[in-house]
Amino acid sequence: MKIIVTGGAGFIGSHTVVELIARGHEAIIVDNFSNSQPFIIDRIKEITGVSPKLYQVDCTDKKALKQVFENEKPEGVIHFAASKAVGESVLKPLLYYRNNLTSLINVLEIMKEEKVNNIVFSSSCTVYGSPDVIPVTEKTPIKKAESPYGNTKQIDEQILTDFQKANPLFNVSILRYFNPIGAHPTGKIGELPIGTPNNLIPFITQTAAGIRKQLTIFGDTYDTKDGSCIRDYIHVIDLAITHIKAIEKLKKENGIVDVYNVGTGVGSSVIEVIESFEEATKQKLNFRIGNPREGDISAIYADNTKIVSELEWKPKYNLKDALVHAWEWQKKLQK
Ligand code: UD1
Repeated sequence: MKIIVTGGAGFIGSHTVVELIARGHEAIIVDNFSNSQPFIIDRIKEITGVSPKLYQVDCTDKKALKQVFENEKPEGVIHFAASKAVGESVLKPLLYYRNNLTSLINVLEIMKEEKVNNIVFSSSCTVYGSPDVIPVTEKTPIKKAESPYGNTKQIDEQILTDFQKANPLFNVSILRYFNPIGAHPTGKIGELPIGTPNNLIPFITQTAAGIRKQLTIFGDTYDTKDGSCIRDYIHVIDLAITHIKAIEKLKKENGIVDVYNVGTGVGSSVIEVIESFEEATKQKLNFRIGNPREGDISAIYADNTKIVSELEWKPKYNLKDALVHAWEWQKKLQK
C-alpha cells in the first residue's frame, strides 16, 4: 500500500516507516520537524536501503497538506503528527488544541475529498485516566482527561468515531499506546527529546551518559509492590508493527472502527526499570527518591488480548531489550 505517515520523522513514526518499507509498503512522510530532525530520513535510508519521500509540511496547513494527497494518491494514512508533552499542554493548552485537533480535522477533510478511506490514529492509554481496575481492556471506561494533551486524544477519538458514522465506507483504527520506549537495534534511530526529558527512559539514558547528574524517582509510597509507579513499557518496534497490521486489516474492511490497547500486558515499576537498566547495560545510575509528580497515576498496564488475537501480534522484545537499545542509541548520539 502507499501510505502517508504524518509525523513520520518522529520517534514512533520513523520506526513505523522502517517497518512499512520492510513489509513492501511505500511510506510518504509528512513532517514539519517541530519535534524531530531531518537526519532521521537519511538514517531510515541507511537501515532500509530506501529513501522515503518527504514533504516538509505542517498538518495544520490544509492547503499544503491537500497538495500532498493530490500528488501521492495514497490508500491510507497513519496519523502521528501531534504535540505530546503532558506538562507543556497544561501551560500552552491552545497550542495543543490547535495542533492536535486541527491536524486531524484537516487530514479527515482531505481524506474525504480525495476518497482515501483508511486511517490509523495514535491515541494513548492516558484516555483511561486513573483506572479503577487493572489491567485495562478497551471497554474500561474513559475518565475525564487530566491534561489538555489527554483531552485532545479523547476528542480526536470522538471526532474519528463521529466521522466514521457519517461516512460508512470509512475505516478507522485507534491504537491506544502504553509507554513506548527503546530504539532501533542498529542504533540509527531513536527518541530525540528536546531539552530536559520528561519521560523516564531518556532521563535514565542521559543520566547514565553523564548529561544529567541524577535521576529522581517520582514517589515510592504508592500502593504498588515497591511503592513506585507501574507502567507498561513497550518496545517502539513492537508498537510500530501494530500500525502496519492495523492498516493492512483496514484495507480488507468496509466501515469499521477498531480500538486496540497496545501494550505488553506486563507492568513494571520505576524501581524495576532502573534495576533492569543497570543489570542489562552494566551502568550504575545515580538516583534518589523524590516527591510524586503531579498528575501521575499509581499503576496502569494493558490487557492486550484483543490486539494479540485480532491482529495476530505479539511483542518480540522485552523490557531489557528495549533498555539496551535505548542505551545503544544514547551512546551513538554522543559520538
Ligand atoms: C506520559 C503520558 C502518556 C504519554 C507519555 C509520553 C499520562 C498519564 N501519560 O506517560 O499519555 O503518551 O507520557 O509522552 O499523562 N518517572 C520518574 N522519574 C522521571 C521521569 C518519570 O520516576 O524522571 C516515572 C513517572 O512517575 C512514571 C514513569 O516514570 O511513573 C513513566 O513516566 P513517563 O515516561 O513520563 O510516562 P507517563 O507519565 O507514564
